[in-house]
Amino acid sequence: MTPERESVLHSWCIQADWNAPTIVGGAGARFWDEAGRSYLDMSSLAECMNLGHQHPRVVAAIRAQAERLCFVTSAWGAAPRAELADELLARAGFAGGRVFFTLGGADANEHAVKFARQASGRPQGWVITRDRSYHGASYAAAALSGDSRTQGGFDPVALRVLHVPPPYAYRCPFGSESAEECGALAAAHIADTIDQHRRDPVAAVLMEPNAGTNGIVAPDSFWPALRAVTRERGVYLIADEVMSGFGRCGEWFAWQRHGEAARPDLMTLAKGLTGGHMPLAAVLLAPQVSAKLDHEMLYTGLTYCGHPLACAAGVAAVRAYAEESLIERSRTLGAQLFARARELQKKHPVIGDVRGGHGLFAVLELVTDRATRAPLAPWPQEHASLRKLVQGARAAGVSFAVRGNLLLLAPPLVITENELSDALALLDRLLGELEWT
Ligand SMILES: Cc1ncc(COP(=O)(O)O)c(C=O)c1O
Repeated sequence: MTPERESVLHSWCIQADWNAPTIVGGAGARFWDEAGRSYLDMSSLAECMNLGHQHPRVVAAIRAQAERLCFVTSAWGAAPRAELADELLARAGFAGGRVFFTLGGADANEHAVKFARQASGRPQGWVITRDRSYHGASYAAAALSGDSRTQGGFDPVALRVLHVPPPYAYRCPFGSESAEECGALAAAHIADTIDQHRRDPVAAVLMEPNAGTNGIVAPDSFWPALRAVTRERGVYLIADEVMSGFGRCGEWFAWQRHGEAARPDLMTLAKGLTGGHMPLAAVLLAPQVSAKLDHEMLYTGLTYCGHPLACAAGVAAVRAYAEESLIERSRTLGAQLFARARELQKKHPVIGDVRGGHGLFAVLELVTDRATRAPLAPWPQEHASLRKLVQGARAAGVSFAVRGNLLLLAPPLVITENELSDALALLDRLLGELEWT
């Protein structure tokens, strides 16, 4: 067989540099390769294995559904599809709304925009998103993203997308030293942007409510203020919960931390929806949005929309989160993770900022000088020592995810306290051993 590095086009890398071990198994927070080396997964692979690897209930549900019926198109009903829609609408407080199933986060976001434009009666309406946001890699999702990864001719303006500064409190684009003020200013800027476009209106704002892979964690003031300004102006608010949902930020959905009044009009889900066991994503439409589409033609569809195998995995995953108290577990272990990360910050001057504190998600931003907050490397480059840290950790059996100057800690919610503690002890050691100049 041709080695994979010669036959497969791999994501987000220079092909000639790709040379990774082949993973053959996993359980809980660990996976292992064909040479028998095991790795503790500190990033849930792509922040998606929230339930850990090979969750027995999800695997059993896929197996049972495969024996019953593998496929039905959306022209026909499918029991797991209806069951999952019900579960999701109930958990989100979207009762009476509808769910559109897609295959991944990118097409969920593209569809959310499509539905928001149609339901708002503004088919050409602008969509406001953030700089340093990531909503997917397909063409329209890349244009929605304000991200260094989306280079390559995705013209946001041609797709009627406006990017605004993010609520990035550590380097506040509005010059504020206060995190809460920075969040409020970011929301106020969006209000101004909507107002400036009164004659050529905005249809929707699409944002990550808490955190995303760009490692910006919104201050508490941001989402409630954004909800208020969008509601006052009759603009739909779409929450991209692709990464932040399903316990990652300590709630089923990250916006829920701010209470019912902060509920978005549409929400996109993927990753944790099946705990990464099947490719599945969803757009949830609140009843006031879905009602607008009830008697109109829906000009969209995907062959695998609401695939029964994926939906059966989704139903089992949702039950596992609920019955195994994994959302609460994420909150408890997340508090420990955050406290330990703060201790590391006290000890290692290279850690400029620690963000998170809600659920099993923490971001460490590395700098060369804490006083000036000078980045360890120009964004989004990676410093050689950070690469060495990842390699050293891998050799010691722990898999960490980094991006630019950020270490993103997002282990499966089933990680044990000892495993978490061991991974952080290793991080402590490697931060101390490496040169950070
Ligand atoms: C917040 C967010 N939205 C959307 C996406 C895109 O999801 P997918 O890779 O499933 O298309 C991602 C992926 O990392 C994400 O983090």
